[in-house]
Amino acid sequence: MEFSGFDARGYRTVDVRTGYVEWVASYEDTVEDVMDLALLERLVDPVWPEVARAADLGCGTGRTGEWLRGKGVARVDGVDVTPEMLDLARRRGAHDRLVEGDAISTGLESGSYDLVICSLIDEHLADLGPLYAEAYRLAAPKASFVLVTYHPHFIMTSGMPTHYTNAAGENVAISTNVHLISDHARAGLRAGWRLAELHEGVIDDDWLAVKPKWERFRDHPISAAYAWRKDG
Ligand SMILES: C[S@@+](CC[C@H](N)C(=O)[O-])C[C@H]1O[C@@H](n2cnc3c(N)ncnc32)[C@H](O)[C@@H]1O
Repeated sequence: MEFSGFDARGYRTVDVRTGYVEWVASYEDTVEDVMDLALLERLVDPVWPEVARAADLGCGTGRTGEWLRGKGVARVDGVDVTPEMLDLARRRGAHDRLVEGDAISTGLESGSYDLVICSLIDEHLADLGPLYAEAYRLAAPKASFVLVTYHPHFIMTSGMPTHYTNAAGENVAISTNVHLISDHARAGLRAGWRLAELHEGVIDDDWLAVKPKWERFRDHPISAAYAWRKDG
């Protein structure tokens, strides 16, 4: 679904690479752990220390990879389309291998990962189908696919795209799409995945501690984490 019909900000919009090349300087200071890492903490399955090899699609600066390594995941390969984000991930050192490429055609080895994870990138994709299909191709039998996403309700109700403030102080939007929960269900099931868990993160006291201005959004869902399982 097009974001433009919900846009309450009217920021100038740039494509993914243009946006993240500029956002990279302040990304780590602006992304909130409560958006994604707090939801990962709530997943019961996968059992993180049992994951031998993970593929981190849209790995960015390596936040997700570092979190996985902290949970005992033995090996993490990362893919991202923005070289400047990969440079920070390389410095962070959480990944074994870092590849510049598209999350929907990674070039990584088929059937070789017992976890595929993708955090906070799918709003940049027009269509979810190729992402779920690529994750399925990479997954070993019984593997998990964990996807953390910006909640469609929050995008619609706030009218706020993924955005950053550039060096000149201008707020700039990065091309954003709205994916309904049913879009994820359709894409995941079509690719062959079985849904094992779904968690929604709402604006609560933890959120308001970092974003006090969001009191008007209290109890609104802002992010979601899907855990899918490959049977057989
Ligand atoms: C909001 S950041 C998330 C980074 C990281 N997963 C995290 O949670 O901090 C989104 C990242 O997705 C990357 N990205 C967006 N579209 C992509 C695509 N089609 N293929 C690979 N990476 C992509 C961007 O370059 C950026 O690094």
